[in-house]
Amino acid sequence: RRHSSGSESEPEEESHSSEEEKEEQKEEIEKASDSGLNAAEKPEESIKKTATNQQAVPSATVCQTASNKPSCKPAVFIPVDRAPEIQEARLKLPILAEEQSIMEAINENPVVVICGETGSGKTTQVPQFLYEAGYTSSTGAIGITEPRRVAAVSMSQRVAKEMNLSRRVVSYQIRYEGNVTDETQIKFMTDGVLLKEIQKDFLLSKYKVVIIDEAHERSMYTDILIGLLSRIVPLREKKGLPLKLIIMSATLRVEDFTENKRLFSAVPPVIQVDARQFPVTIHFNKKTPLDDYSGECFRKVCKIHRMLPSGGILVFLTGQAEVHSLCRRLRKAFPFQKNNTAGDDDKEESVEEIRKFKKSRKRKKAMTLPKIDLDNYSVIPVDEGDEDRDAETDDDVAGSDLDLDLGDADSEEDEKSDSSLPLYVLPLYSLLAPEKQAKVFRPPPPGTRLCVVATNVAETSLTIPGIKYVVDCGKVKKRFYDKITGVSSFRVTWTSQASANQRAGRAGRTEPGHCYRLYSSAVFMDFEQFSAPEITKRPVEDLILQMKALNIEKVINFPFPTPPPAEALAAAEELLIALGALKEPLMTGRLKEQQTAKLSCPISPLGRVMATFPVAPRYAKMLALSRQHDCLPYTITIVSAMTVRELFEEYDRPAVSEEETAKLKGKKARLLQMQRIWAGQGLLQKLGDLMVMLGAVGACEYAGCTPKFCEENGLRYKAMLEIRRLRGQLTTAVNSVCSDAGLYIDPKMKPPTEAQATYLRQIVLAGLGDHVARRAQAEELLDDKWKNAYKTALLDEPVFIHPSSILFKQLPEFVVYQEIVETTKLYMKGVSAVEPEWIPVLLPPYCHFGKPLENPPPSYCPETGRIRCHRPSVFYRVSWQLPAVEVD
Ligand code: CDP
Ligand code: MG
Repeated sequence: RRHSSGSESEPEEESHSSEEEKEEQKEEIEKASDSGLNAAEKPEESIKKTATNQQAVPSATVCQTASNKPSCKPAVFIPVDRAPEIQEARLKLPILAEEQSIMEAINENPVVVICGETGSGKTTQVPQFLYEAGYTSSTGAIGITEPRRVAAVSMSQRVAKEMNLSRRVVSYQIRYEGNVTDETQIKFMTDGVLLKEIQKDFLLSKYKVVIIDEAHERSMYTDILIGLLSRIVPLREKKGLPLKLIIMSATLRVEDFTENKRLFSAVPPVIQVDARQFPVTIHFNKKTPLDDYSGECFRKVCKIHRMLPSGGILVFLTGQAEVHSLCRRLRKAFPFQKNNTAGDDDKEESVEEIRKFKKSRKRKKAMTLPKIDLDNYSVIPVDEGDEDRDAETDDDVAGSDLDLDLGDADSEEDEKSDSSLPLYVLPLYSLLAPEKQAKVFRPPPPGTRLCVVATNVAETSLTIPGIKYVVDCGKVKKRFYDKITGVSSFRVTWTSQASANQRAGRAGRTEPGHCYRLYSSAVFMDFEQFSAPEITKRPVEDLILQMKALNIEKVINFPFPTPPPAEALAAAEELLIALGALKEPLMTGRLKEQQTAKLSCPISPLGRVMATFPVAPRYAKMLALSRQHDCLPYTITIVSAMTVRELFEEYDRPAVSEEETAKLKGKKARLLQMQRIWAGQGLLQKLGDLMVMLGAVGACEYAGCTPKFCEENGLRYKAMLEIRRLRGQLTTAVNSVCSDAGLYIDPKMKPPTEAQATYLRQIVLAGLGDHVARRAQAEELLDDKWKNAYKTALLDEPVFIHPSSILFKQLPEFVVYQEIVETTKLYMKGVSAVEPEWIPVLLPPYCHFGKPLENPPPSYCPETGRIRCHRPSVFYRVSWQLPAVEVD
């Protein structure tokens, strides 16, 4: 595939679909979307259809009338040679009883929904049913999407093993890793990977069946895939190459898919798989919930292990760091000599990272100006979400408000134990290496008790055998959208009732179990019932850019299972226009038409390039502009650091002793000293906090990125590793856009020159156009609250440079900021100084341009707030629209 030479005037053949076909597809999507709208206006008709859907089992035949299209019932039966013990185990799975109704429904309908309890066998068995029924062949495969990487990898391993087939045939593909071959017939992948494939081949012609698994999780990409597939299925039908779509969900809450008139013209049949579930006794904590839920988990596990009969323990925590720290504590308390060393992943990870980095070194070539290539949409910026997404279910678990205290006999909280039975402690979370994840499925060594410490990956995606006790901290790590700045962050909050019930249900898979909730029943009653679909909670500019890259222009008409809020769509579109990722509409006609036009802008060539980078569009813009003056490696590092966030240790915490206070003070002084060094000299300093980030990463890499260096210099080791990983990913993405860039990242990057630092400030300004701030001016300064304050485009109130910023004392006239945080005041973090005359050149969408001036006075005039800039051969008088500046 060519990447290098394309330009807009020389369109080349796409391997899969020509421009014409794309145009046709686009029309289809829009037509379908519009007709979806029409259908919504005629509710009587749709009610009739949905009514049939109420009778779930065995509803395989319910919608026969809906599909009068030729069924593609395969005539063959492909035998599978399973091991006897495998065959025995799978015959016990509830889904086996539904094989016939499932296959009939699939044969007769283009779209089928399968609902069933977690552990009933959906993920492992449905692909096997399809395989045996001849749905795979040389001309098509079965694709299964998972919202989590863990599930994609482990399920492909499991299915290959059950079917006794090679991993060449049953394979997986996750973001930068996979084992897919030409022989692959069953392919597990993350939802993001399939979305990427749709960008290359809209009709997904290599698949005969697509299964969307864990649809109840309502991950953003799953939702988008269902919307897209609702259009792809009829298109494939029209081409005479029918595609089957199967939506699998752990809960009954599938109305958003089945009753959404905009999605499917015929209501898909819903097959309900009933699962055997043993009663689970719920024990709530009497006490008000503790902040130290991790410590409480530790004590609970100790008690269970010492006092209760055999049976595996599953602990739910919120994140990888917590999982590791609890694992370490438990291993220390209940030592187990062999094989109990599954920890220390961090160390291995870092060695692995270094190896990858060394491997990725290539000879450096000179770089030229940016090349924007229309056909470069083969890589998709899919943030597959390293977070563990929360699950939603309405799993009904027998509950009691009784706190069966495990006794006070052992109120000691020391970490030593005299229990003779060793505890076999295993971590489980999304980013854990697949071979380590696989350990949880194997029986624990004889004479030990299994204890899995997991994030909510264990909630629905994976079923761990032999769990009898669940310890639920009740918390979940979620991504939150900051309304002021548009920046998202992770926060730990209470989970939903549905999730808590799902967690409890994990204890009753093989025999009656117990679930210990580390919170009171009153707190539980305050939990939200379900978590809202991800798409309604997130900023959508990255999603909209993706959709535009698929030539879906009227995003507002797209059949989302649950649409994002209209304001979110409008804000996203506006930002993308300002960034130049979308072509601005011609503003003619009335206001309403203008608004509609604004919501259906096509993607620009720049937008296509931006869409290939797996970071937020603001940062993608910076990358797209960086192919000049050898700036790319620096921009990649800055963007990585801004994406990872929180590079530096926080020493402003309350200390327990005077000794500790002194220690923290010393460490803070050391960090401040280092930050001044990293900020550099001369013009480098103007890059401000971003130069500090760049310097910190550079210094850390020079030192080999060791935990020791990080500890001594106030850097967060975890953050440094993440930055390294992201730098690698972005380098790959850049190289795939510009194959002649030949870019490599030297972890031991040289500091930028003064000129480069100046270009970098321009590049950052171009990306953070809506995050510009100007020093408060004369009139504002009449009011004392504006002292040392800045005016921003987004807020009326004064904002300040954060005291931790390297520019805190310098107070440059104009700055750009990464984010605003609110503590005692509104503070800008991640601040760089910019020159005002750059603004009209780099950010015309944010400027009003007046008449050209005959005798332009020089540059920026602080008294009037006017900026004069040089645009090609004419001087314009401009005023900057964002902060209130005098308009000419
Ligand atoms: O998808 P669903 O939750 O309905 O069930 P599944 O993931 O297909 O799992 C069916 C059964 O296979 C469960 O009882 C799991 O314990 C078992 N399984 C296993 O033993 N080892 C694996 N690697 C995966 C699943
Ligand atoms: Mg499953």
